Amino acid sequence: MSESHSDSNVIFHAQPGGRLTGALRVPGDKSISHRSIMLGSLAIGTTRITGFLEGEDSLATLAAFRAMGVDIEGPDDGKVTVHGVGLHGLKAPKHPLDLGNSGTSIRLLAGLMAGQTFDVTMSGDASLSKRPMRRVTEPLAAMGAVIDTTDKGTAPLRVHGGAPLKGINYQLPVASAQVKSCVLLAGLYAKGRTCVTEPAPTRDHTERMLKGFGYPVEVKGSTVCLEGGRNLTAANIEVPADISSAAFFLVGASIVEGSRLTLQHVGMNPTRIGVINILRAMGANITVSNEREVGGEPVADLTVTAAPLNGIHIPEDQVPLAIDEFPVLFIAAACAAGETVLTGAEELRVKESDRIQVMADGLRTLGIDARPTPDGMVIQGGQLRGGEIQSHGDHRIAMAFAIASLRANQPVTIHDCANVNTSFPNFVSLARGVGLKISASSD
Ligand code: S3P
Repeated sequence: MSESHSDSNVIFHAQPGGRLTGALRVPGDKSISHRSIMLGSLAIGTTRITGFLEGEDSLATLAAFRAMGVDIEGPDDGKVTVHGVGLHGLKAPKHPLDLGNSGTSIRLLAGLMAGQTFDVTMSGDASLSKRPMRRVTEPLAAMGAVIDTTDKGTAPLRVHGGAPLKGINYQLPVASAQVKSCVLLAGLYAKGRTCVTEPAPTRDHTERMLKGFGYPVEVKGSTVCLEGGRNLTAANIEVPADISSAAFFLVGASIVEGSRLTLQHVGMNPTRIGVINILRAMGANITVSNEREVGGEPVADLTVTAAPLNGIHIPEDQVPLAIDEFPVLFIAAACAAGETVLTGAEELRVKESDRIQVMADGLRTLGIDARPTPDGMVIQGGQLRGGEIQSHGDHRIAMAFAIASLRANQPVTIHDCANVNTSFPNFVSLARGVGLKISASSD
């Protein structure tokens, strides 16, 4: 998987201008898609998933469980059937697990693999191999797991099987749903009780889905606890559209006059809606309708109409709730009147790329005064011009600059866009369908 990324340089060519109109349903939520395969595989019985994200990241998780002997049918138009093998039914994979670009796959799997009786090696592409893994291997070691990393604390991870795990009380040093989920998933295999306390609320899909699979989970304030040794029972899962993918269109329709767009069936989990809160604070016009709950997750249709945006100091409590949406929020800030200040977001430096540096570089290329700081950015709204953008293989950087073209006065060319397929495989065609003047080429 990693090879196919680096072999072809996909280039996005975006013509300036246009407006976004109509309705669309963006692909399924990436976080929920990963967890549906993981818990479905470890459950007793057959789990049927609809709306599954057929992106490279969630497909990497699917392939990993197939490699560990789980019979998985699909995906076929978002439908996946997982024949669960139970918590102790996985088999040793014949080869190392290649998790491509996917931080969620490697970090959540680290927790699950720590509880197995066999050894597993997990690796990924160049970006994943640079990302910090001690944040998961340290709490897992405290539970009794034996995991090797490189000297830098990065992948490949070698998880030694058969180490008995015991429950811990873990205070998360960073607000990270991946670390929280990793420890909780290891806790399924641990003797006794595992509790995780988070410094700020992060996405709670793991907790919700565990409950949906009949596993008792106790949530009290900022602490989540579970006891090891129970069973998961298969459940049907309807994956909502990914708010992180919808975010590109929320910003795109907000920043060009004459736009009006409806995004259907968007996941509205309260731990994910920071992008809506932040855009509204900047003056965006977003209405929420048809609110309902599917499989334990709130869902709604969102209608966004163009509105003049103003710069703000982004409230720090919204940062973990919008952590994946900052690339496109920086584009909103570039199109807003006045100054936007982001602080408390140092985590952006260890995502698929250093999103503070890479976005500041790209915005400056497009003529915007963007000053990176250690934990955020200061952006003055202004006129975007055209230019050549390096996305550094980061899917969300590539899509953010595609949206920027709506307000540019010259074409925007974005390099290294193959990884858009990790989270949003049909981005170009969906975006064209609602008015973005974009095409892709590869060399
Ligand atoms: C995710 C958690 C977040 C997010 C990532 C998906 C998850 O990462 O950025 O895209 O599915 O749990 P962190 O836990 O590192 O903040």
